[in-house]
Amino acid sequence: MSLPRIYLDNNATTPVLPEVLGAMRPYFGERFGNASSIHSYGQETRAAVENARESVAALLGCRASEIVFTSGGTEADNLAIAGLVSAGGHVITSPIEHHAVLHAVLHACKHLEEIGCEVTYVPVDGRGLVDPGDVRRALRPNTKLISIMMANNETGVLQPVEEIGKIAAEAETCFHTDAVQAVGKVAIDVKRIGCHALSLSGHKMHAPQGVGALYVRKGTHLHPLFYGGRHERSRRAGTENVPGIVGLGRAAELALESFNRGDHKTMIALRDRLEQGILAQVENAAVNGGGAPRVANTTNINFDHIDGESLVIALDLKGLAVSTGAACSSGAIEPSHVLIAMGMTPNRARASIRFSLGKQNTREEVDFALALVPETVARLRELSPTHNKTAVSI
Ligand SMILES: Cc1ncc(COP(=O)(O)O)c(C=O)c1O
Repeated sequence: MSLPRIYLDNNATTPVLPEVLGAMRPYFGERFGNASSIHSYGQETRAAVENARESVAALLGCRASEIVFTSGGTEADNLAIAGLVSAGGHVITSPIEHHAVLHAVLHACKHLEEIGCEVTYVPVDGRGLVDPGDVRRALRPNTKLISIMMANNETGVLQPVEEIGKIAAEAETCFHTDAVQAVGKVAIDVKRIGCHALSLSGHKMHAPQGVGALYVRKGTHLHPLFYGGRHERSRRAGTENVPGIVGLGRAAELALESFNRGDHKTMIALRDRLEQGILAQVENAAVNGGGAPRVANTTNINFDHIDGESLVIALDLKGLAVSTGAACSSGAIEPSHVLIAMGMTPNRARASIRFSLGKQNTREEVDFALALVPETVARLRELSPTHNKTAVSI
Protein backbone atom coordinates (compact mmCIF):
# COMPACT_ATOMS: atom_id res chain seq x y z
CA MET A 1 0.00 0.00 0.00
CA SER A 2 1.40 3.41 -0.90
CA LEU A 3 1.98 6.03 1.80
CA PRO A 4 -0.48 8.90 2.09
CA ARG A 5 0.98 12.23 0.96
CA ILE A 6 -0.31 15.16 2.96
CA TYR A 7 0.86 18.64 2.09
CA LEU A 8 0.89 21.21 4.91
CA ASP A 9 3.49 23.57 3.44
CA ASN A 10 1.24 26.00 1.60
CA ASN A 11 3.31 29.05 2.62
CA ALA A 12 6.10 27.60 0.48
CA THR A 13 3.78 27.15 -2.48
CA THR A 14 0.17 26.13 -3.12
CA PRO A 15 -1.21 23.66 -5.64
CA VAL A 16 -2.81 25.29 -8.69
CA LEU A 17 -6.60 24.96 -8.36
CA PRO A 18 -8.33 22.98 -11.16
CA GLU A 19 -10.40 26.08 -12.11
CA VAL A 20 -7.17 28.09 -12.42
CA LEU A 21 -5.54 25.44 -14.59
CA GLY A 22 -8.68 25.29 -16.75
CA ALA A 23 -8.61 29.05 -17.27
CA MET A 24 -4.92 28.97 -18.22
CA ARG A 25 -4.97 25.98 -20.54
CA PRO A 26 -6.12 27.72 -23.78
CA TYR A 27 -3.29 30.26 -23.39
CA PHE A 28 -0.71 27.45 -23.65
CA GLY A 29 -2.47 26.28 -26.82
CA GLU A 30 -4.54 28.02 -29.44
CA ARG A 31 -4.56 31.43 -27.66
CA PHE A 32 -0.83 31.99 -27.87
CA GLY A 33 -0.73 35.55 -29.24
CA ASN A 34 1.62 38.25 -27.97
CA ALA A 35 -0.57 40.66 -25.99
CA SER A 36 1.18 43.60 -27.68
CA SER A 37 0.32 42.47 -31.25
CA ILE A 38 -2.42 44.42 -32.96
CA HIS A 39 -3.95 41.50 -34.87
CA SER A 40 -6.73 39.33 -33.52
CA TYR A 41 -4.34 36.89 -31.80
CA GLY A 42 -2.89 39.75 -29.83
CA GLN A 43 -6.28 41.31 -29.13
CA GLU A 44 -7.46 38.03 -27.68
CA THR A 45 -4.58 37.74 -25.23
CA ARG A 46 -4.62 41.48 -24.45
CA ALA A 47 -8.28 41.15 -23.43
CA ALA A 48 -7.36 38.19 -21.19
CA VAL A 49 -4.53 40.14 -19.53
CA GLU A 50 -6.78 43.15 -18.92
CA ASN A 51 -9.52 40.91 -17.51
CA ALA A 52 -7.01 39.42 -15.10
CA ARG A 53 -5.87 42.92 -14.13
CA GLU A 54 -9.49 43.81 -13.26
CA SER A 55 -9.78 40.67 -11.12
CA VAL A 56 -6.57 41.33 -9.18
CA ALA A 57 -7.62 44.98 -8.70
CA ALA A 58 -11.02 43.87 -7.37
CA LEU A 59 -9.28 41.67 -4.78
CA LEU A 60 -7.17 44.59 -3.55
CA GLY A 61 -9.77 47.35 -3.85
CA CYS A 62 -7.84 49.41 -6.39
CA ARG A 63 -8.04 50.45 -10.06
CA ALA A 64 -6.89 48.03 -12.74
CA SER A 65 -4.39 50.62 -13.99
CA GLU A 66 -2.63 50.46 -10.60
CA ILE A 67 -1.66 46.78 -11.07
CA VAL A 68 1.74 45.91 -12.58
CA PHE A 69 2.22 42.23 -13.43
CA THR A 70 5.62 40.78 -12.48
CA SER A 71 7.38 37.41 -12.42
CA GLY A 72 6.44 36.90 -8.75
CA GLY A 73 6.70 38.27 -5.24
CA THR A 74 10.48 38.73 -5.34
CA GLU A 75 10.32 40.92 -8.41
CA ALA A 76 7.38 42.88 -7.01
CA ASP A 77 9.35 43.57 -3.79
CA ASN A 78 12.48 44.57 -5.71
CA LEU A 79 10.48 46.79 -8.05
CA ALA A 80 8.82 48.55 -5.13
CA ILE A 81 12.04 49.11 -3.20
CA ALA A 82 14.44 49.99 -6.00
CA GLY A 83 11.68 51.86 -7.82
CA LEU A 84 10.69 54.01 -4.84
CA VAL A 85 14.14 54.83 -3.40
CA SER A 86 15.90 55.39 -6.69
CA ALA A 87 16.83 58.95 -5.74
CA GLY A 88 18.39 57.96 -2.38
CA GLY A 89 17.15 58.79 1.11
CA HIS A 90 16.31 56.86 4.25
CA VAL A 91 14.42 53.54 4.39
CA ILE A 92 12.61 52.01 7.38
CA THR A 93 12.04 48.27 7.42
CA SER A 94 12.03 45.37 9.91
CA PRO A 95 14.36 42.41 10.52
CA ILE A 96 11.58 39.85 9.91
CA GLU A 97 10.94 40.74 6.26
CA HIS A 98 11.32 38.09 3.58
CA HIS A 99 14.81 37.99 2.06
CA ALA A 100 13.30 39.45 -1.12
CA VAL A 101 12.78 42.69 0.82
CA LEU A 102 15.85 42.53 3.09
CA HIS A 103 18.26 41.95 0.21
CA ALA A 104 16.49 44.42 -2.08
CA VAL A 105 16.83 47.11 0.60
CA LEU A 106 20.50 46.28 1.17
CA HIS A 107 21.21 46.29 -2.53
CA ALA A 108 19.25 49.46 -3.25
CA CYS A 109 21.05 51.26 -0.45
CA LYS A 110 24.51 49.94 -1.32
CA HIS A 111 23.94 50.92 -4.91
CA LEU A 112 22.87 54.37 -3.83
CA GLU A 113 25.50 54.89 -1.13
CA GLU A 114 27.10 57.77 -2.94
CA ILE A 115 23.84 59.70 -2.87
CA GLY A 116 23.29 58.81 0.78
CA CYS A 117 20.81 56.00 1.33
CA GLU A 118 20.47 54.60 4.85
CA VAL A 119 18.31 51.94 6.51
CA THR A 120 16.70 51.69 9.94
CA TYR A 121 15.45 48.28 11.08
CA VAL A 122 12.63 48.67 13.58
CA PRO A 123 12.56 45.74 16.01
CA VAL A 124 9.77 43.23 16.64
CA ASP A 125 8.62 42.06 20.06
CA GLY A 126 8.51 38.45 21.29
CA ARG A 127 5.26 37.89 19.36
CA GLY A 128 6.85 39.11 16.13
CA LEU A 129 5.01 42.44 16.06
CA VAL A 130 6.40 45.79 14.93
CA ASP A 131 5.43 48.70 17.20
CA PRO A 132 4.07 51.54 15.01
CA GLY A 133 5.53 53.94 17.59
CA ASP A 134 9.01 52.68 16.64
CA VAL A 135 8.23 53.39 12.98
CA ARG A 136 7.18 56.92 13.90
CA ARG A 137 10.33 57.47 15.99
CA ALA A 138 12.54 56.15 13.16
CA LEU A 139 11.24 58.75 10.69
CA ARG A 140 13.74 61.31 9.39
CA PRO A 141 13.18 64.34 7.16
CA ASN A 142 14.66 62.34 4.25
CA THR A 143 12.73 59.07 4.84
CA LYS A 144 11.68 57.93 1.37
CA LEU A 145 10.16 54.56 2.11
CA ILE A 146 8.71 52.43 4.88
CA SER A 147 8.56 48.74 3.93
CA ILE A 148 6.83 46.50 6.48
CA MET A 149 5.28 43.19 5.52
CA MET A 150 1.60 42.45 6.04
CA ALA A 151 1.83 38.77 7.08
CA ASN A 152 5.00 36.94 8.00
CA ASN A 153 5.74 33.83 5.96
CA GLU A 154 7.10 31.82 8.90
CA THR A 155 4.70 32.70 11.73
CA GLY A 156 1.69 34.15 9.86
CA VAL A 157 1.79 37.16 12.24
CA LEU A 158 -0.10 40.15 10.84
CA GLN A 159 1.53 43.56 11.23
CA PRO A 160 -0.43 46.71 12.13
CA VAL A 161 -0.21 47.96 8.55
CA GLU A 162 -3.14 50.39 8.78
CA GLU A 163 -1.48 52.27 11.64
CA ILE A 164 1.81 52.30 9.75
CA GLY A 165 -0.04 53.58 6.67
CA LYS A 166 -1.37 56.52 8.72
CA ILE A 167 2.13 57.33 9.99
CA ALA A 168 3.45 57.24 6.41
CA ALA A 169 0.64 59.55 5.25
CA GLU A 170 1.33 62.09 8.02
CA ALA A 171 5.05 62.00 7.20
CA GLU A 172 4.33 62.17 3.45
CA THR A 173 6.57 59.19 2.83
CA CYS A 174 5.93 56.11 0.69
CA PHE A 175 4.71 52.89 2.31
CA HIS A 176 5.25 49.48 0.72
CA THR A 177 3.88 46.28 2.19
CA ASP A 178 4.83 42.76 1.15
CA ALA A 179 1.41 41.07 1.23
CA VAL A 180 2.56 37.86 -0.46
CA GLN A 181 1.40 35.75 2.51
CA ALA A 182 -1.71 37.81 3.24
CA VAL A 183 -3.47 38.05 -0.12
CA GLY A 184 -6.33 35.56 -0.31
CA LYS A 185 -6.11 34.91 3.45
CA VAL A 186 -7.32 38.25 4.86
CA ALA A 187 -9.51 41.00 3.38
CA ILE A 188 -7.29 43.58 1.70
CA ASP A 189 -8.20 47.13 0.85
CA VAL A 190 -5.20 49.16 -0.24
CA LYS A 191 -7.01 52.41 0.55
CA ARG A 192 -7.64 51.36 4.13
CA ILE A 193 -4.03 50.23 4.48
CA GLY A 194 -2.89 53.52 3.01
CA CYS A 195 0.02 51.93 1.14
CA HIS A 196 1.62 53.22 -2.04
CA ALA A 197 2.77 49.77 -3.13
CA LEU A 198 1.77 46.21 -2.25
CA SER A 199 3.37 42.97 -3.47
CA LEU A 200 1.64 39.67 -4.14
CA SER A 201 2.65 36.32 -5.62
CA GLY A 202 0.56 33.89 -7.67
CA HIS A 203 1.93 30.65 -6.27
CA LYS A 204 0.99 31.53 -2.69
CA MET A 205 -2.68 31.80 -3.69
CA HIS A 206 -3.28 28.73 -5.86
CA ALA A 207 -2.10 30.31 -9.12
CA PRO A 208 1.12 29.10 -10.78
CA GLN A 209 4.72 29.86 -9.86
CA GLY A 210 6.45 32.65 -11.79
CA VAL A 211 3.74 35.28 -11.78
CA GLY A 212 2.91 38.06 -9.34
CA ALA A 213 1.89 41.68 -9.18
CA LEU A 214 2.72 44.99 -7.61
CA TYR A 215 -0.02 47.46 -6.76
CA VAL A 216 1.32 50.97 -7.31
CA ARG A 217 -0.91 53.83 -6.18
CA LYS A 218 -1.87 56.22 -8.98
CA GLY A 219 0.49 59.20 -9.04
CA THR A 220 3.35 57.35 -7.30
CA HIS A 221 6.59 57.75 -9.17
CA LEU A 222 8.21 54.36 -9.75
CA HIS A 223 11.50 53.73 -11.56
CA PRO A 224 11.44 50.49 -13.58
CA LEU A 225 13.83 47.69 -12.65
CA PHE A 226 14.71 46.98 -16.25
CA TYR A 227 14.28 48.60 -19.61
CA GLY A 228 12.75 47.55 -22.90
CA GLY A 229 9.29 47.90 -24.41
CA ARG A 230 6.49 49.95 -22.92
CA HIS A 231 4.72 47.01 -21.33
CA GLU A 232 2.76 47.56 -18.15
CA ARG A 233 2.65 51.33 -18.80
CA SER A 234 6.46 51.43 -18.93
CA ARG A 235 6.70 50.15 -15.35
CA ARG A 236 7.80 46.59 -16.25
CA ALA A 237 9.33 45.92 -19.66
CA GLY A 238 9.00 42.46 -21.20
CA THR A 239 6.37 40.38 -22.99
CA GLU A 240 3.67 39.42 -20.53
CA ASN A 241 3.41 35.86 -19.17
CA VAL A 242 -0.16 35.54 -20.47
CA PRO A 243 -1.01 32.03 -19.14
CA GLY A 244 0.41 32.93 -15.72
CA ILE A 245 -1.43 36.25 -15.61
CA VAL A 246 -4.71 34.58 -16.63
CA GLY A 247 -4.15 32.04 -13.83
CA LEU A 248 -3.45 34.80 -11.32
CA GLY A 249 -6.62 36.62 -12.39
CA ARG A 250 -8.76 33.49 -11.96
CA ALA A 251 -7.13 32.73 -8.59
CA ALA A 252 -7.91 36.31 -7.48
CA GLU A 253 -11.60 35.86 -8.42
CA LEU A 254 -11.75 32.57 -6.53
CA ALA A 255 -9.99 34.09 -3.51
CA LEU A 256 -12.54 36.92 -3.37
CA GLU A 257 -15.51 34.53 -3.71
CA SER A 258 -14.05 32.24 -1.08
CA PHE A 259 -13.43 35.12 1.31
CA ASN A 260 -16.96 36.46 0.82
CA ARG A 261 -18.33 32.97 1.57
CA GLY A 262 -16.37 32.99 4.85
CA ASP A 263 -14.10 30.04 3.95
CA HIS A 264 -11.32 31.58 6.05
CA LYS A 265 -13.39 30.77 9.16
CA THR A 266 -13.27 27.07 8.23
CA MET A 267 -9.52 27.43 7.72
CA ILE A 268 -9.09 29.02 11.18
CA ALA A 269 -11.06 26.13 12.73
CA LEU A 270 -8.83 23.60 10.93
CA ARG A 271 -5.63 25.41 11.90
CA ASP A 272 -6.77 25.69 15.53
CA ARG A 273 -7.69 21.99 15.59
CA LEU A 274 -4.15 21.17 14.46
CA GLU A 275 -2.48 23.65 16.80
CA GLN A 276 -4.51 22.81 19.90
CA GLY A 277 -4.30 19.09 19.18
CA ILE A 278 -0.50 19.28 19.05
CA LEU A 279 -0.23 21.45 22.15
CA ALA A 280 -2.50 19.08 24.06
CA GLN A 281 -0.44 16.01 23.16
CA VAL A 282 3.13 17.31 23.18
CA GLU A 283 4.79 18.61 26.33
CA ASN A 284 6.93 21.73 26.06
CA ALA A 285 5.49 22.85 22.75
CA ALA A 286 4.59 26.50 22.15
CA VAL A 287 3.21 28.55 19.26
CA ASN A 288 5.66 31.12 17.92
CA GLY A 289 3.75 34.38 17.50
CA GLY A 290 0.71 32.80 19.16
CA GLY A 291 -0.17 35.97 21.08
CA ALA A 292 -0.41 38.11 17.94
CA PRO A 293 -3.06 38.43 15.23
CA ARG A 294 -2.28 35.85 12.55
CA VAL A 295 -3.46 34.73 9.12
CA ALA A 296 -5.88 31.82 9.19
CA ASN A 297 -3.66 29.12 7.72
CA THR A 298 -0.35 29.23 9.58
CA THR A 299 0.98 27.84 12.84
CA ASN A 300 4.65 27.80 13.76
CA ILE A 301 5.35 25.52 16.70
CA ASN A 302 8.43 25.20 18.85
CA PHE A 303 9.19 21.67 20.06
CA ASP A 304 11.86 21.93 22.69
CA HIS A 305 14.85 19.59 22.35
CA ILE A 306 14.35 18.50 18.77
CA ASP A 307 16.13 19.47 15.60
CA GLY A 308 13.56 20.98 13.22
CA GLU A 309 15.23 19.61 10.08
CA SER A 310 15.20 16.08 11.54
CA LEU A 311 11.50 16.41 12.36
CA VAL A 312 10.73 17.65 8.83
CA ILE A 313 12.57 14.66 7.34
CA ALA A 314 11.01 12.15 9.75
CA LEU A 315 7.50 13.46 8.99
CA ASP A 316 8.18 13.44 5.26
CA LEU A 317 9.18 9.78 5.44
CA LYS A 318 5.73 9.12 6.91
CA GLY A 319 3.96 11.15 4.22
CA LEU A 320 3.56 14.60 5.83
CA ALA A 321 5.19 17.63 4.19
CA VAL A 322 5.90 20.59 6.51
CA SER A 323 8.77 23.04 6.80
CA THR A 324 11.19 24.71 9.18
CA GLY A 325 11.01 28.03 7.35
CA ALA A 326 14.78 28.33 7.91
CA ALA A 327 17.13 28.87 5.02
CA CYS A 328 19.71 26.28 4.05
CA SER A 329 22.80 28.04 2.75
CA SER A 330 26.06 26.33 1.78
CA GLY A 331 25.03 23.13 3.51
CA ALA A 332 24.52 24.81 6.91
CA ILE A 333 21.05 25.25 8.34
CA GLU A 334 20.76 28.86 9.43
CA PRO A 335 18.33 29.44 12.27
CA SER A 336 15.34 31.47 11.15
CA HIS A 337 16.13 35.21 11.07
CA VAL A 338 12.47 35.80 11.95
CA LEU A 339 12.52 33.74 15.14
CA ILE A 340 15.91 35.16 16.11
CA ALA A 341 14.52 38.69 15.69
CA MET A 342 11.68 37.63 18.02
CA GLY A 343 14.29 36.98 20.70
CA MET A 344 14.76 33.22 20.43
CA THR A 345 18.09 31.49 20.91
CA PRO A 346 19.44 29.80 17.74
CA ASN A 347 18.80 26.35 19.25
CA ARG A 348 15.18 27.16 20.06
CA ALA A 349 14.69 28.70 16.62
CA ARG A 350 16.07 25.51 15.05
CA ALA A 351 13.51 23.47 17.01
CA SER A 352 10.52 25.14 15.31
CA ILE A 353 8.28 23.84 12.55
CA ARG A 354 5.80 25.64 10.31
CA PHE A 355 2.51 24.02 9.36
CA SER A 356 0.63 25.97 6.68
CA LEU A 357 -2.76 24.96 5.32
CA GLY A 358 -4.27 25.51 1.90
CA LYS A 359 -7.75 25.40 0.39
CA GLN A 360 -7.31 21.71 -0.52
CA ASN A 361 -6.60 20.48 3.02
CA THR A 362 -9.26 18.50 4.87
CA ARG A 363 -10.06 17.64 8.47
CA GLU A 364 -8.92 14.07 7.80
CA GLU A 365 -5.51 15.39 6.73
CA VAL A 366 -5.22 17.49 9.87
CA ASP A 367 -6.13 14.42 11.92
CA PHE A 368 -3.46 12.44 10.10
CA ALA A 369 -0.92 15.10 11.13
CA LEU A 370 -2.27 15.02 14.68
CA ALA A 371 -1.72 11.29 14.87
CA LEU A 372 1.79 11.53 13.44
CA VAL A 373 3.44 14.61 14.97
CA PRO A 374 3.31 13.76 18.72
CA GLU A 375 4.77 10.26 18.30
CA THR A 376 7.49 11.53 15.94
CA VAL A 377 8.47 14.33 18.33
CA ALA A 378 8.57 11.82 21.19
CA ARG A 379 10.81 9.48 19.18
CA LEU A 380 13.21 12.30 18.23
CA ARG A 381 13.33 13.55 21.80
CA GLU A 382 14.30 10.05 22.92
CA LEU A 383 17.30 10.36 20.63
CA SER A 384 18.12 13.94 21.62
CA PRO A 385 21.18 14.28 23.91
CA THR A 386 19.91 17.61 25.28
CA HIS A 387 16.48 16.20 26.06
CA ASN A 388 17.89 13.15 27.80
CA LYS A 389 20.30 15.33 29.74
CA THR A 390 17.36 17.36 31.05
CA ALA A 391 15.56 14.14 31.96
CA VAL A 392 18.58 12.92 33.95
CA SER A 393 19.14 16.21 35.74
CA ILE A 394 15.49 16.28 36.86
C1 LIG B 1 6.54 37.15 2.41
C2 LIG B 1 7.11 36.74 1.08
N1 LIG B 1 7.55 37.69 0.25
C3 LIG B 1 8.08 37.39 -0.95
C4 LIG B 1 8.20 36.09 -1.37
C5 LIG B 1 8.77 35.79 -2.72
O1 LIG B 1 7.75 35.43 -3.63
P1 LIG B 1 8.10 34.61 -4.97
O2 LIG B 1 8.39 33.21 -4.55
O3 LIG B 1 6.87 34.72 -5.81
O4 LIG B 1 9.26 35.27 -5.61
C6 LIG B 1 7.77 35.06 -0.52
C7 LIG B 1 7.94 33.64 -0.89
O5 LIG B 1 8.11 32.77 -0.06
C8 LIG B 1 7.20 35.40 0.73
O6 LIG B 1 6.76 34.45 1.58
